[in-house]
Parts: sequence; structure tokens; C-alpha cells
Amino acid sequence: MVITFANQKGGTGKTTIAIAFANYLSVNGIGLKVFDCDFQESIHEKYTFDISSGKTPLYDVIYLDHDSIPDVDNLIEMSDSEELFVFDLPGSLDVNYVNLLHYSDYLIIPFEYSDVSMKSTIRFNEFLKVISAESQRIFIRSKFDKGFSYPNKESFDSYLKEEAKYNRQVSIIEHPIYKRNVLQTIDTCSLTYRQKEAVIDAFKQVLELIKTPIVS
Ligand SMILES: Nc1ncnc2c1ncn2[C@@H]1O[C@H](COP(=O)(O)OP(=O)(O)O)[C@@H](O)[C@H]1O
Ligand SMILES: [Mg+2]
Repeated sequence: MVITFANQKGGTGKTTIAIAFANYLSVNGIGLKVFDCDFQESIHEKYTFDISSGKTPLYDVIYLDHDSIPDVDNLIEMSDSEELFVFDLPGSLDVNYVNLLHYSDYLIIPFEYSDVSMKSTIRFNEFLKVISAESQRIFIRSKFDKGFSYPNKESFDSYLKEEAKYNRQVSIIEHPIYKRNVLQTIDTCSLTYRQKEAVIDAFKQVLELIKTPIVS
């Protein structure tokens, strides 16, 4: 199975959620491999730093530059495999990632309710429609502040609801990923209680959608 964290907007929490997700699955006994496709090597850097600090990452992280991104045949093989492959993409639309957007089993798309983020997220969704991507798209509210009243929330929620209504490939996770300082220091070796608390409700819903059997 191939799960890719993507959105053409940077800073929406793709990398943070990808790490938290990989950690959560790993501590629950699900083996996986992470592919960092961002030239900033956010996850890969954390991973090498964790190792050099004497810690033990929960999974392997492999950095892929433009030329090493799996081709269509490889992606289909990975998708058919029992193994789980998690990809983290940079916040840009680039022709090199089109196959990944197209052939991932699931795209997890974190978004925020700021004007800029919403516009980019809509553009990204429209792009996926234009390329007729086969992937299932899971939209997830990211860096969500419970105490804040987002002026754009209602209109964007109704856009997504309409999308989900007419397109079976679109799902929206009801529970948000909360804005928490503890998520800023997440590493590839553990998921602390507080980090887990910020993501667990959302992840449980994601796992129901992707039908990966996880108990806790
Ligand atoms: N839920 C969250 N709560 C608090 N800070 C967050 C959260 N998610 C991400 N961040 C912070 O926001 C910034 C951008 O997150 P990142 O995961 O790198 O986004 P992306 O990969 O989409 O560019 C980072 O500094 C990260 O620590
Ligand atoms: Mg990133």
C-alpha cells in the first residue's frame, strides 16, 4: 500500500503528520518504510539526527531526489504489496510527483483554514481532478486551534462536503489534528502521550478509511 502526504501548500503540517502517522503505526506493530521526497529532507534529517544522537528510529527513512522517485510500474507494485510505503512530498506541484499523486492508494491532504492555505488546497484538489488521479483523497484539518473561530471554516467545509458528495474518492476527517507545541519536537523514535493525544482521534478515522487493522 502507498500512502502519500501531499498538498501544494507548504507549512500545512504534511511532514509533522507523516511522522506522527508513521510513529503511531509503528508503535502499534505495523511495519513501514518512509520515503522523503522533499529536497529540504525534513524527515530524513530528523532521522539521521536521531541516529547520531544514539536513538533508534522506529522505521527506515529513505531520501528520494527527483530522479529516484519510483516510476509507474514500481508504484503499482508498491501499491499491490502487503508492505506499507509512506511518502512525504514537498509543498509544490511538480511534474516529478504526478505519478505519486496519481497512483498512491491514499493521499492524505492536511489543510488549514487560512485564506492562502484554503486557496492552495482547492487548487490542489482541482489539479487532482484534472489529471483524473486514481488515488483516494483524505482531507484533514491541521494545526487546528480549538479556541479560535476561523472565519473561512464554514465556506471551506461546505466546498469539501460538496466534493465528497459527488466524488467517492474524497473523504474528510471529522477530527482535526490539534495545534500543539509538542508536535514541533516530534522525532522518528517515539510518540509521546501528548503527541498521541493531538492526533489519535483523527488517525483512528483515517485508519477506518484505509482499513488497516490497529487496535489501540
Ligand atoms: N499540529 C501542529 N501543532 C503545532 N505546530 C505544528 C503542527 N503541525 C506542524 N507544525 C509546525 O508547523 C511548521 C510546518 O509544519 P510541517 O509539518 O513542516 O509542514 P509541511 O511539511 O506541510 O511544510 C513546522 O514548524 C511544524 O513544527
Ligand atoms: Mg514538509
